[in-house]
Amino acid sequence: MSDDPTQYSRKGAVGVIAIDRPPVNGLGHAVREGIHARLQEALSDPEVLAIVIHGGGRMFSAGADIKEFGSELAFTPPTLSEVIDAIEGAGKPVVAAIHGVAAGGGCELALGCHYRIAGIDARLGLPEVTLGIIPGAGGTQRLPRLVGVPAALDLIVQGKLNPAPKAHEIGLVDELFEGEPAAAGVLYAKKLITAGGGPRRTRDQNERVEAARGKDEIFAQYRKETARRARGLEAPLAAIDSIENATNLPFEEGMKAERVIFDRLLASEQSQAMRHAFFAEREVAKIPDIPRDTPTREVKKAGVIGCGTMGQGIAMAFANAGIPVRVLEVDQEALDAGLEKIEKTYDSSLAKGRISQEDRDLLVSTIAGTLDYADMADADLVVEAVFEDMGLKKKVFARLDEVCRAGAILATNTSTLDVDEIAAATGRPGDVLGLHFFSPAHVMRLLEIVRGDQTAKDVVATALALAQQLKKTGVVVGVCEGFVGNRMLLAYLREAYFVLEEGALPQEVDKAICDFGFPMGPFTMLDMAGLGVGYLIRKHQAARRPAGERYSDIEDRIVEMDRLGQKTGAGWYRYEKGDRTPIPDPEIEAMIVETSAKLGIERRTFSDAEIIERCLYPLVNEGAKLLDEGIAIRAGDIDVVWLHGYGFPRHKGGPMFWADTMGVRTIYDKLVELQAEHGDLLAPAELLEELAEQGKGFADL
Ligand code: CAA
Ligand code: NAI
Repeated sequence: MSDDPTQYSRKGAVGVIAIDRPPVNGLGHAVREGIHARLQEALSDPEVLAIVIHGGGRMFSAGADIKEFGSELAFTPPTLSEVIDAIEGAGKPVVAAIHGVAAGGGCELALGCHYRIAGIDARLGLPEVTLGIIPGAGGTQRLPRLVGVPAALDLIVQGKLNPAPKAHEIGLVDELFEGEPAAAGVLYAKKLITAGGGPRRTRDQNERVEAARGKDEIFAQYRKETARRARGLEAPLAAIDSIENATNLPFEEGMKAERVIFDRLLASEQSQAMRHAFFAEREVAKIPDIPRDTPTREVKKAGVIGCGTMGQGIAMAFANAGIPVRVLEVDQEALDAGLEKIEKTYDSSLAKGRISQEDRDLLVSTIAGTLDYADMADADLVVEAVFEDMGLKKKVFARLDEVCRAGAILATNTSTLDVDEIAAATGRPGDVLGLHFFSPAHVMRLLEIVRGDQTAKDVVATALALAQQLKKTGVVVGVCEGFVGNRMLLAYLREAYFVLEEGALPQEVDKAICDFGFPMGPFTMLDMAGLGVGYLIRKHQAARRPAGERYSDIEDRIVEMDRLGQKTGAGWYRYEKGDRTPIPDPEIEAMIVETSAKLGIERRTFSDAEIIERCLYPLVNEGAKLLDEGIAIRAGDIDVVWLHGYGFPRHKGGPMFWADTMGVRTIYDKLVELQAEHGDLLAPAELLEELAEQGKGFADL
């Protein structure tokens, strides 16, 4: 990092301020101070008639330095608002020349400039709501003045970065350019000088906000939609309030109100959780013993063994990333069936307008089928996705070992089997790892990268790079049954079943979990995923279950009634034809009540809070065991797994972050109580006990 995060130069009558704070030109204190000082320098030079601000490196600016939040520096003058006010109040025209990204405070800085031009492939926006806050340097007051209230609502409340051409269309950007931002900015500024274009202050442009004044229905409608779409989130609704202020209050008062809302949200648990998620998502790519500059292997061609549910999704994930892939099946019939399903999936995306006919044809042609292992010879990486059977998997790997070129990476998509045992079926265990995709594999963002005992470091580094290429979040985990996600899931489901035996009904558990913030409860989720796989896993585990250990067979009985979930029209719930709404089924309720009676359990009512404790404390407990065993590297990694693979609410940060907000001590004490009542399955993990005794949390590890 250079000591001086801004630079100043003169190009004729144009003063040029460059922001130079890699990697993202975050607007931390030193940068704000630099911009402010450079601006004064340009303003006091009589030969400078116009000023350009641009970013060095990859982008204009990603906004406020989020790491500074909560520290003194964030409030040390000049604040971002003060810098922006100085720019807007300047007596000479100031142009923002934007390339890469202008996000959050970076976009607000541009809004304070008198003119904005953007590179054709730049992206602009105010994503603060994704961090649980609202723009805090005038974004909610200036943007509606420039683009009007409806467009400002979309941009700020949804928090997406918009492509420059769209930003140009709505009036956020005055002109688009190709090439270097500094040169484009200078050219634009020179034209302004020639044309006599002076300062043009966004704060004074009231026409568009006045047009929305008194139109309460715009806001009422937007609030209604937002409350549904962003269920449980504070920031999007607060952003609407602040934009409404822009239409009703004078600029300065709107600014003051924006600051009050910003400060309140910044201190909120939701914002802390969402900022934790932001950094945890970036931290996962850092593996302590694998430096970031570890050379990776090239993955230009991929292979997939098995074209069932997972094989199809994995093949599409490669094709969507532009990586040609060959899929191998046992016989022509299975191959044709698999490839046909892939075509159907792309056809349905085409019908929904998500891809063009041209895209569809290209994607389908990127996936080829074969029955011959010799066709795997030139693959750089092969993912095996055959039935979950160790004997079969070993045979497949031995065969791949024979045909694949030296250096090719061999991956298994197993969800429960020992990756080290599979690797041992080859003569190259260093090239073997688990790539645990989630269903549907072309959609779900999570990818567990299972590092075996012998997996080479560059193979792990390549998998992390591949995850990024596939637009997935790769999380490196160790070998154990279920890895991180599913092992924790089993603990959560186990308790959910017990809660049913003790008195609750599926819809009550689902409601409590949904109200907590998950998109759906465990029983709706199971019905959606299908009950068959879990049934097989439980049968497989039965032999290893200690005698006398509590076990609920309710779901097994549902499967044995041929109710396999949504796809068969019935599972934990029943479904009307063509409708995915779960309908509570008296037949299942009677079966649950009968099970309790058979077990001699007197049914009782459960409050939502009890259901949450009972299902989610064991989830946290299992997470603590995974940390203790070194299966997960960091508590934040577990959070990322649950945020991206299982719908844990982002505004609660993930199970381990949430545990810290509840207090590890509270969770530990409750588990001790539950263990006394229900047995050792609920015994607190050693790590949980240690942290509780020391008054610490997972963030302290
Ligand atoms: N502050 C501090 N660090 C940041 C940052 C920010 N605003 N944005 C990114 N970084 C860091 C990342 O943590 C990462 O650090 P490591 O390399 O140490 O992991 C590094 O910069 C690179 O970031 P990415 O890996 O995310 O880079 P990318 O090229 O994939 O994405 C980006 C670039 C789209 C700008 C993305 O970084 C991003 O979305 N950043 C956050 C944007 C944002 O939300 N800005 C609003 C900030 S709040 C604000 O501005 C409030 C206000 O109104 C005053
Ligand atoms: P599936 O039953 O839908 O597909 C398996 C496919 O493998 C079938 O098409 C079968 O014909 C083919 N196959 C069997 N033997 C073969 C061989 N010797 N050579 C080539 N192809 C062969 O199963 P699914 O659900 O796709 O699971 C595959 C793997 O992915 C399993 O290991 C499973 O545990 C794992 N997995 C499954 C998830 C899921 O949600 N279904 C999620 C994550 C992992």
